Amino acid sequence: EAGSRAADAPIRSLDDLAAAGRSCTRCPLHCGATQAVPGAGPGDAPLMLVGEQPGDHEDIAGKPFVGPAGDVLNDVLRETGILRDRAFVTNAVKHFKFELRGRRRLHRSPDAGEVAHCQWWLAKELELVRPRVVVALGVTAARALTGQTVTLNAMRGAVHDMADGTQLVVTNHPSALLRQRNAEAARQLRGNMLADLTTARRCL
Ligand code: URA
Repeated sequence: EAGSRAADAPIRSLDDLAAAGRSCTRCPLHCGATQAVPGAGPGDAPLMLVGEQPGDHEDIAGKPFVGPAGDVLNDVLRETGILRDRAFVTNAVKHFKFELRGRRRLHRSPDAGEVAHCQWWLAKELELVRPRVVVALGVTAARALTGQTVTLNAMRGAVHDMADGTQLVVTNHPSALLRQRNAEAARQLRGNMLADLTTARRCL
């Protein structure tokens, strides 16, 4: 029960973590967002998928990847044979960052400081779930997970060993497909995701 949780109560479970996250004020993003969006999925998931930050739909629903980017992700997971409800799905940053354009809330990428402030929550999720394999969806997740200013091109196509023994696979973000106007380029991005998620599945 979020309301009854003492701010300094120990965090022993994903539920504790989600409750604590609701009152996070480590960075100013909590001011504009509806709510913090914690990761979702089984606490013993062998696979963790990490996106960038909640979008408009996720901010309202309080759940990760439930909007258009989630539809792309679900499609690619299905094609790869990965069951989404066996994976833990989360984001590098837990609050939605946006700018208002009329009534529309347009996504803005989190900056390095916001990612760094939110890294504590991602580290806790990793510590509690202890997945065998983590997939970074996009460069923000890859940077949050490695703590380095890496690029997608340098990281894609290989399996990386993280310090705690977890294996890391990096692929592009599903929203990159949605933004891509060129059909051939979009096909290529989808092909990348299929190949990378297949690699991740083989590591499980
Ligand atoms: N994009 C993300 O990175 N995460 C979500 O949860 C939704 C869209």
